[in-house]
Amino acid sequence: MINVAVLGYGTVGSGVVEVINTNREIISKKAGDEINIKYVLDLREFPGDPVEKILVHDYETILKDDSVKIVVEVMGGVEPAFTFAMKALGRGKNVCTSNKELVANKGPELLKAAKENNVNFLFEASCGGGIPIIRPLNSSLTADEILEISGILNGTTNYILTQMADCEWDFDKALKTAQDKGYAERNPEADIEGYDACRKIAILSSLAYGKTVDYRDIYTEGISAVTSMDIEYAKKMECAIKLIASSRREKDNIYALVTPMLVKKEHPLYSVNGVFNAVFVKGNMVGETMFYGSGAGKLPTASAVVGDVVDAARHLGEHIEVSWEDEKLTLAEEENSENRYFVRVGAKGDDTDKKIESLFGSVEYIFLDGIKETGFVTGNMTEKKFNEAYDRLDEKITRIRFKA
Ligand code: HSE
Repeated sequence: MINVAVLGYGTVGSGVVEVINTNREIISKKAGDEINIKYVLDLREFPGDPVEKILVHDYETILKDDSVKIVVEVMGGVEPAFTFAMKALGRGKNVCTSNKELVANKGPELLKAAKENNVNFLFEASCGGGIPIIRPLNSSLTADEILEISGILNGTTNYILTQMADCEWDFDKALKTAQDKGYAERNPEADIEGYDACRKIAILSSLAYGKTVDYRDIYTEGISAVTSMDIEYAKKMECAIKLIASSRREKDNIYALVTPMLVKKEHPLYSVNGVFNAVFVKGNMVGETMFYGSGAGKLPTASAVVGDVVDAARHLGEHIEVSWEDEKLTLAEEENSENRYFVRVGAKGDDTDKKIESLFGSVEYIFLDGIKETGFVTGNMTEKKFNEAYDRLDEKITRIRFKA
């Protein structure tokens, strides 16, 4: 029997208990031994809940129990999760987490501690919910130089943008429904403003490029400025607006950003709707791959956590190498990257067109029936050149990058 302790009995923690109870036989068979939840740690009481009998409030109880081989950390936040995880690793326990805050802030330290103690720190559920992407990056795509990772990495924002486009819901109704369904973070600003996706692309990029990508270095824009009118223009251009978290290699430079983008119908990310997430990975040998699935929600996330528990159980006494060095990766300045942009201006007519063309050169105009404004698409230009021109534009409303 392999004893497990679950830290935190919230959405994901209760999901972990449910997954293990529902699929007990399958999981134990795949793990090679029976997986037993010995403790659940939470500050709260859960009268009448089956975990009542195994509920503890003091972490020391778990730490001191040498029969606990795997600690599942699903509390969220950096502290006390970090302290608890480090103590567990120090006591020779494996740690499995869904906590992207923890991994994005403390990943290399935790991996180092895991290696030193010949145990494992596993974090499949930290990016893309139930989608397998950490293990494929670390174990499968190891023959390639990774050229690009572009993901729809936040279920809440993808759900909101999809509902706005398909059902013509307003932003608030879509957000409220996402929260009710358990997709959103406790503070929805982390979803809406792109911070959650930013941490996830930092983790994926660190694994892909082997050095630490600091999420604080990643240019991040959320979806709070995206309007129904932007979505109408997108439809006219046979595009969808998606919150894209992306990093890509151009020669010796690595660029990374999180921003709403216009994704063309032909791109595989175009069809990723609702709470689904997808990670598009391009390697110099394998070409294009895409990993797709439920990016948020109790059971998909818990499924990924329990998958890590099985992996930890299979590797007791053996450290799985993770290629993520502590050394920081310096990202290239975003202003040197090249993009095409869609721009909206609150005026229409020859003078407006003349001004636009004098600033941006040749553009493609997009008009919506009955709307007194001008939409246009620029050619490929650096962010720096675009910003200089955009600053000089009169009556500008918005600008959105195209996904290359
Ligand atoms: N709030 C996150 C999302 C949860 O919506 O994707 C999964 O990380």
